[in-house]
Amino acid sequence: MNRQHFIGMAAIVAMLFLPACLKAQIKPGSTWNDTKGTFINAHGGQVVWSEGYYYWFGETRETSVSCYRSTDLINWTRLTDALKPAGTMTDDNKDIAKGRNLERPKVAYCQNTGKWVMWIHWENGSDYGQARVAVAQSEKVEGPYTLVDVFRPNDHDSRDQTIFVDADGKAYHFCATGMNTNINVAELNDDYLSPSGTETQVLLGDRYEAPAIFRVGDCYFGLFSGCTGWDPNAGRLAYTQDIFGTWEHRRDEMQNYSYGENFCTDDDAYYTYHSQSTCVFAVHGRENCYVYMGDRWNSSKVASSKYVWLPLSVRSGYPRVRYYDSWDLSIFDNMYRYKRLDRLEEGAEVLLLEKRSDRIVSRPSASFMIDNDGEANVTFVLRATDSPYHFRLQEKKSGNYLESVYGSMRLTADKDADSQRWFFELEEDGYYHIVNAGDAKCLSLSGNSTLAGTGIFLHERDASIAQSFAVYYDSSVHPEYVEADLFSRAYREHNRELMAACEQAMGIAATEKEEGGTTDSSHAVYDLSGRKLTTPPTGLHIINGRKVLR
Ligand code: GAL
Repeated sequence: MNRQHFIGMAAIVAMLFLPACLKAQIKPGSTWNDTKGTFINAHGGQVVWSEGYYYWFGETRETSVSCYRSTDLINWTRLTDALKPAGTMTDDNKDIAKGRNLERPKVAYCQNTGKWVMWIHWENGSDYGQARVAVAQSEKVEGPYTLVDVFRPNDHDSRDQTIFVDADGKAYHFCATGMNTNINVAELNDDYLSPSGTETQVLLGDRYEAPAIFRVGDCYFGLFSGCTGWDPNAGRLAYTQDIFGTWEHRRDEMQNYSYGENFCTDDDAYYTYHSQSTCVFAVHGRENCYVYMGDRWNSSKVASSKYVWLPLSVRSGYPRVRYYDSWDLSIFDNMYRYKRLDRLEEGAEVLLLEKRSDRIVSRPSASFMIDNDGEANVTFVLRATDSPYHFRLQEKKSGNYLESVYGSMRLTADKDADSQRWFFELEEDGYYHIVNAGDAKCLSLSGNSTLAGTGIFLHERDASIAQSFAVYYDSSVHPEYVEADLFSRAYREHNRELMAACEQAMGIAATEKEEGGTTDSSHAVYDLSGRKLTTPPTGLHIINGRKVLR
């Protein structure tokens, strides 16, 4: 090969392979520069999508709000600051003069006025005693925003904050109030410039901060942090179907936290991967694909704090954030390959997904564990029994059945035994306690760890142990299966009906047993898919002091 040929070949090889090596990625916690090579300075921020571009707004720590623009979420061009300091300090604290401290800016487009609105946490320097908001408005998404007012919303303190626009166009302000004790939810007036007066306080006494609110279907989700200043702590999750109603936030007894469930599932979850939430935004044009945005604060030089952005999955019915050293949007390609099965039916090929970890039950060796998608190697075939609430789980590969053998999980040959029958006890959110009909032990997550490789074992029913599993299917193998409509109000309502039907069936069975086997035909009994049964379940058995239906 002559020199020219060699150079030509080398160029071709470089063209083929370099793009893959150099493919831009998001690297949580790394130094992230803009397209001019300058460190991106946009903290406590937010990303919104508008007419073909993502815009990233954030605190500069210099009484201004920066604005960056991108088409790919990786390469960001700095635009003129969206909000600049203006005027001089006034005694009534209604200015954005240099020296004021502006934090956690959030913008929204107001359909009613055709203008963009920005809400910001406003302080006089760094003593955090003012607890106000500044509200500004602009004709264009990127600004310039001009100050409308600085005030305490509905006359109460407001520190960490965000705004959220609902599907019906109504906007809400969420803030930490009562000296960071509660979260205040306030409806905004039609122009989004002030609170309407309709408000409520939620998550009372929990000391949540750093709200990031988003909606999936009929469910509202909130990610929060605890209240430890610049230091990271465990992320918290809350959810509701009624924005002014109760925000559920199961106390995390499982990890001995006194507060709500953590949305992180990997190593360093206890510190939210060393970050604090600021926003969750939807990837444009991709259903249910979200990005978690957090700040990795550097308290000695806040403006140089770094960013932790990670893909967020709601596949499990809840927001779950896994850690990746580096990632790009292609990570979403496989996120929803596994989908929740709409109803349990004879012959369905399924996988079990553990609720807290968002991971799938697998069996790389003799024992069961939770694992990452690519590693999951256990497909079960659901085998119906004479009870609509009981199934047998036949492993597809071996043809063997999941059995509780003296309290441990085994795959064994087909036998007519209760130890191979599993009661699928439904919960409102579509998860099941999977309880063995022989010994009443439940599938349980070992040590309540959510890491890949954590063991699954059988244990007594116990509220302090993670024992909730949902039935999923591989949509690349079974595109014809019907997916559950996880986030709809109707889904939970239907599950509540099924749970009541199951309880009722248990009641009937108990009555039958007590009354010597008479069937009360005035009660309708339904199966798990909502169909009315002509023959009620066969009976209730008390095993080890527990009720088991079969
Ligand atoms: C955090 C808050 C930050 C900032 C900081 C100041 O709790 O989330 O936005 O206000 O305290 O200490």
